[in-house]
Amino acid sequence: MSGGAKLHVCVAEVVPVNDLITRFRFVAVDGSALPAFSGGAHTVVEMDDHGLRRLNPYSLMSNPKDRSGYEISVRRDDQGRGGSLFMHQHVRVGMEMVLSYPVNLFPLDSRAKRHLMIAGGIGITPFLAQIAQLTHFGGKFELHYAARNRALGAYMDRLTAAHPTAVHCYFDDEGQAIDLGRVLSMQPIGTHLYVCGPKGMINWVLSTAEGMGWPKLALHHEEFLAPGTGLPFTVELAASGMTVTVGTAQSLLEAMEAAGVDAPYLCRGGACGQCETNVQICDGTILHRDHWLTPEEHAENAKIMPCVSRFEGRTLVIDR
Ligand code: FES
Repeated sequence: MSGGAKLHVCVAEVVPVNDLITRFRFVAVDGSALPAFSGGAHTVVEMDDHGLRRLNPYSLMSNPKDRSGYEISVRRDDQGRGGSLFMHQHVRVGMEMVLSYPVNLFPLDSRAKRHLMIAGGIGITPFLAQIAQLTHFGGKFELHYAARNRALGAYMDRLTAAHPTAVHCYFDDEGQAIDLGRVLSMQPIGTHLYVCGPKGMINWVLSTAEGMGWPKLALHHEEFLAPGTGLPFTVELAASGMTVTVGTAQSLLEAMEAAGVDAPYLCRGGACGQCETNVQICDGTILHRDHWLTPEEHAENAKIMPCVSRFEGRTLVIDR
C-alpha cells in the first residue's frame, strides 16, 4: 500500500503559535466528516512545492471526537529539506491539499491503568490528541513537557489551564529538567510510559526506564526521522527493471515515486517498517538511518528502508 486512499481537504485555518510553530486546520473539500482517528495518529501531508512532490508526516493534534477537521502543528526547520518551510511560506487558507488517511503508530495502550507522558518541543502534538481522548473517557494521565524556553512552549497555557495538577512544564533556559528517576519511581504498577521528542530525549527516557526495570511492553515512543541529505546515488530496481538516481535532497522512496514505481510507506520516517525492501546486491555501504531494522540487520545489508536510508558505493540492486 503506497500510502493508501487519500483525503481531499481544504485549509481552513493557519495560525502562528510562536516563532517556530504554525498550526493548520484542514476540513474535507466536500464538507463531510473526516475519518475517525485515535490519539497518537499521524497523517501524511502531500505538497506540490513548485513541481516537487513532498510528503511529510505530522501528528494529528486535534480532539479525536471532532471529525469536522484535522489539526496539525508544523515546526519550521530552516536546515531541513523544505517541507516545513513550504507549509510555513506557501500554505494559505482556502488552498486545497491532499492528506493520507490517519494511521496510528503511537496509540494509547488500553491495558494501561495510568499513562505517563513525556514530551520535548514539538513532540507535544500527539499528546494533545491523546489527552483529549483520555479526558473524554476519564483515563488517568500525567504529562511532563520540556521546551527550550517559555516562548517556544506551544500549548503549555492551554494544557496547564485545563489540567493544572497533571501537567508539569520545564524550560531549558531556566535550568529546569524533569527529575526522571523520581517520576518513574513514583508510578503505580500498571502505568505505561510514552515519550515523543528529540532523539536524545527518547533514548534517555527509554534507557532510564529500562534500567529501572520497567517492562518493555509498557514503553512507547514515537520519533519520525526526516530523510537526511547526502551524496547522489543510483539504484537498480530489479522488479521494475529500472535504474533510478537519488538526488542530494531526495530520499530513495521519493526517487522511486518520481519514477512511477508504486512503493509502500506509512510513516516516511524510518519507524513503521512498511517500506522495508530486500537488497539483492550491495557493493558499497548502506547508510542505515531507520530505527526499524535491528543492528544485526543493519550490519548484514540485506534490507534497506527507502524512506530514510541512503547508499554510497558502486552497485545497489533492490527488490522493487
Ligand atoms: S515508511 Fe515507515 S519505515 Fe519507511
